[in-house]
Amino acid sequence: MDTNAQDNAKIWDRFYATGHRLWYPYEVCVRLVRYHLAHEGFAGLMLDHGCGSGNHMEFLTRVGVRLHGTEVSSTALQTVRSRFEGAMLPTPGLSLIDPDLPLQGQLPEYDHVIAWGSTHYNRRPKVLADIKCLIDGLPQGGAFIFQVPTVRDVAARQSEKLEDGSFRIIGSISSQTGATCTYPEDLDEFRSWFPGIDLRDTGSVAVTLFGTPVEYYFAYGVKN
Ligand SMILES: C[S@@+](CC[C@H](N)C(=O)[O-])C[C@H]1O[C@@H](n2cnc3c(N)ncnc32)[C@H](O)[C@@H]1O
Repeated sequence: MDTNAQDNAKIWDRFYATGHRLWYPYEVCVRLVRYHLAHEGFAGLMLDHGCGSGNHMEFLTRVGVRLHGTEVSSTALQTVRSRFEGAMLPTPGLSLIDPDLPLQGQLPEYDHVIAWGSTHYNRRPKVLADIKCLIDGLPQGGAFIFQVPTVRDVAARQSEKLEDGSFRIIGSISSQTGATCTYPEDLDEFRSWFPGIDLRDTGSVAVTLFGTPVEYYFAYGVKN
């Protein structure tokens, strides 16, 4: 099948195959994880959905969280393997998913989920369906951590808007030209993306680095 989601997967395959990777976890993610660890801990298994080069997985492993990572890009998974080998850490469970198929049936059983800057690489109905599936798979009390760029982020600013409200990147940011993404219009819409989650915190982070505007929303909560 040649769809927007498969095109996205190819873009990310090229990205990791050409040596791109993120080394550090995002500060907000670190703070949310440390907060949850201090109050409840992450018993069981956490799913890192769209784990990329494993920057959050390495941090989470180092603070004692048991993990399974999913990706649409096989080169991302190779990058995670070599990262964990290099760090002399046990490699977490990893699996490749097909972004065109329903997520249901492609995921292991899990107790918590992090989806940091990954789920929005799709058209709007599939993004919302994937988020619902991630939430449906959580047991009551399971932690949920989520991040998505806002419409003021460089990715959305360098995009054209598609008829269904999704965006296609037309600029050359981070080698993502051609990627199809979905962004919430504002914080209210963002908060509506998570039915079934008792949201404990949502917010935004904005920074301009070397003249480039980076802005994202984050959400943290537990399954009702
Ligand atoms: C911006 S990177 C973020 C990676 C990692 N979560 C992090 O925080 O650094 C986006 C990742 O999402 C993955 N991805 C693309 N389409 C996806 C989809 N439909 N569902 C889940 N992940 C997807 C890409 O392969 C890529 O590794």
